[in-house]
Formats: sequence, C-alpha cells, structure tokens
Amino acid sequence: NDNIDNIIDHKLFTEDDIHQMCVKLGKQLTEDYAGKKPLVIGALKGAIFFLTDLVREMNVKEEIDFMDVSSYGDSFESSGEVKIISDLATDVKDRDVLIVEDIVDTGLTLKYMKDLLQKRGAKSVKCCVLLNKEANRKVDVEVEYYGSQVGNEFVVGYGLDFMNFYRNLRYIGVLKPEVIKLANNK
Ligand code: PRP
Ligand code: MN
Ligand code: MG
Repeated sequence: NDNIDNIIDHKLFTEDDIHQMCVKLGKQLTEDYAGKKPLVIGALKGAIFFLTDLVREMNVKEEIDFMDVSSYGDSFESSGEVKIISDLATDVKDRDVLIVEDIVDTGLTLKYMKDLLQKRGAKSVKCCVLLNKEANRKVDVEVEYYGSQVGNEFVVGYGLDFMNFYRNLRYIGVLKPEVIKLANNK
C-alpha cells in the first residue's frame, strides 16, 4: 500500500506542535540576533521545511544559503563520514552564521559543518535544530537552540526521510519497526 500514513506507528509532533516550536525559537533568535545580519545556512535536504518556517518567525535582517551535506545517503544508518554534495554560494568570513538542521543524531554532520565554517573565518557559528537526539551522540558538539528532545526512534516527516521518502509529511511520526525490517532484508 502506497498510503504514506500506513508506515507511521504513531505521530510524535503534529503540525501545530511544530508551528509552536518554530514560533518559540524564532522569538528567541530574533532577540539574540537583533542588530546582526546573520547568514542562515540550511543543511539539505532535511532542513528545508524547518528553515522556511523558522526564518519567517525571525524578525531580523537575515540571509539564506544552503549546503548539501550527507552522512546517511540512502541508508538508515550513519556512514560515519560526512560529504559535501554541494557547497555554499556565500563567503562566511566575518559573518554570524546560524546552521539550521532538522535533527542532530550522532552529531557528525553538525560538528563537520561547524568546524568547516569556523575554519572559513565565520565570526560566530551557532545552530538551531528542531529535534535533538542527544542519547545517540558520538561526538561532542554544542546545540545552542533546539525545539525538542527525541528518543532513539526512527522519525520521519517535515523534512526527515527514510531512504529519501516521506519528507513531505506535515507532521513528524515514528516509523513502524516492520518498515525498517523490510528494508533491512532487501
Ligand atoms: C540527516 C539529518 C541530519 C543528519 C543528522 O541528514 O538531516 O543532517 O542526518 O545525523 P548525524 O547527527 O548522525 O550526522 P542526511 O545525511 O540523512 O541527509 P538529508 O538531510 O539529505 O536527509
Ligand atoms: Mn540532513
Ligand atoms: Mg537523511
């Protein structure tokens, strides 16, 4: 069956929950970046929906750019190696950079991006993440802003994918374990 709701075990965050998180984070970022011109960097592809909702809750003069980084590829386990698929168009030197991510899991992707942008001479590098899967961390990386903690379950929707599908769900749901098992046996 191709109905995408059928692969969801239960909803974790509704559209409204997500909206509330964006409003709250947007308010905080508006205060913290007042008078600055931050460069908001979305990590493709997972961050697309969160970034577009978040920046519209931020009343600051910000610029947007994207970087396509991948540690998972089509897989559902981190490869442990982060690759740049496509780089920024903007020079980050002396800029206040805010990385936007859908989720921090092992922390590898975020740490890689933070280190890289720091090396390129950014004035400040912080991040705003929707979901913080802190229990799964493999590297130590500071998460300055986040919407909510999540446990060690496979979440999809609102940008988060399973083998590149289900990003377009309006809510965030936990994937049925059998969906992962089926994919594992392929
Ligand atoms: C996912 C997610 C984060 C990263 C988190 O991206 O969007 O960017 O993994 O995992 P980590 O903390 O273990 O590095 P993915 O590599 O799947 O690419 P995508 O955003 O295109 O789905
Ligand atoms: Mn990602
Ligand atoms: Mg992914």
